[in-house]
Order: sequence, then structure tokens, then C-alpha cells
Amino acid sequence: MQEQHNQAWAWASGRLSPSRLAHTRGVVKAAQDLARRFGADEEKAGLAAILHDGAKNLGGPRLLSLARQEGIIVDIVQQQAPDLLHGPVAAALARREVNVQDEAVLHAVAIHTTGAPDMSTLDKVIYLADYVEQGRNFPGVEALRQAADRDLDRAVLQAMDGTLRYVIDRGWLIHPLTVEARNWLLGRLGADGKGGPD
Ligand SMILES: [Fe+2]
Ligand SMILES: [Fe+2]
Repeated sequence: MQEQHNQAWAWASGRLSPSRLAHTRGVVKAAQDLARRFGADEEKAGLAAILHDGAKNLGGPRLLSLARQEGIIVDIVQQQAPDLLHGPVAAALARREVNVQDEAVLHAVAIHTTGAPDMSTLDKVIYLADYVEQGRNFPGVEALRQAADRDLDRAVLQAMDGTLRYVIDRGWLIHPLTVEARNWLLGRLGADGKGGPD
């Protein structure tokens, strides 16, 4: 696993800007901490974190062409907001270029932007680590870090709600997977439509 981590770092370092590499370092640390706290595999969390933004600096047209090349089915929302593809494309490239075969790791990378229904603990850890890593600074980040100390599902829901508000305020498209993920989480929390963060 250590060798794969090293290969993944070499791959990510070659693809990312210095600021995004610093973010990635923060996500690795946060993901390992969350994995320890909530019982996910720390090694897998570290590897997924290293890989997660590996396609982030590519730009829309390149993401769209790579997605087609890698056999990723591009939906209508991704067509219009191609940055949403940076997770799925990173997973496909990691499989081919870093030889990562672990489906759990690749899935966590693929869905780190949108979330998805039936998220595994590892999926949630990566999704949340992306928000709470030490370099992040947005309104509500401290409350989210506190939530992340206590309850993984509620913290993921809180991060999703914040993202949805942000996206709605800007008039951007919402990916249906985020809606499905949120509904699934509310169901898990035994919610009846009032199960948002307290
Ligand atoms: Fe990302
Ligand atoms: Fe990220």
C-alpha cells in the first residue's frame, strides 16, 4: 500500500497546482483522522484522498473528452457543468495510470463532489474530509468541523445542505446524485423531512 501511496503522490503532484496540492495534503490528513474516528480503513482513506482531485486542474473541454475516452456516461448536468466530472475522471485515470484496482477507493474518488445514495463509510469520510481539511475557510466550516467530531452522517448532511444552498444562491445546476444522496441520508437518520442538522 505504501508503494501505491507513493505512486499516487507522484501522479497527483504532476497534475495539480501548488495550492491544490496543499489542499490535497489537508484532505489526506483529515480523511485519515475521520477514518480512524468512524471505522474506515485509514490506508484506503489516505489513498483516495491523494487521488481525489487529480483531474481538477483540467478544465471543462478536457474533462468532457477524457470522460468520453474513458467510457464514462456523461449526463445532461455534467454536460453543462463539466467540473462535476473531475471525480469520475480522476477515478478512471487512477485505475489506468496508477493501477489502483480497489473499487472502494475508486468509488470514493468518483463521487467525492456529488455524493451518492448508499455511500459507504469511506465515501463519506472522503466527501467530508474535502470540506473540513485545515486549509478550508468558509462560513460554517467550524460548525462543520465540530459536527465531524461527533456524527458522520449528520456532518455529511450538513456539508451537503451547505453546498446545495451555495449552488442555489448562485443559480447553478444541482446534480441529481446530490439530491438522491441527501434523501438517502435523511432516511438513514430516521427523518421525516425535518431531519436536517440541529
Ligand atoms: Fe474535488
Ligand atoms: Fe478537493
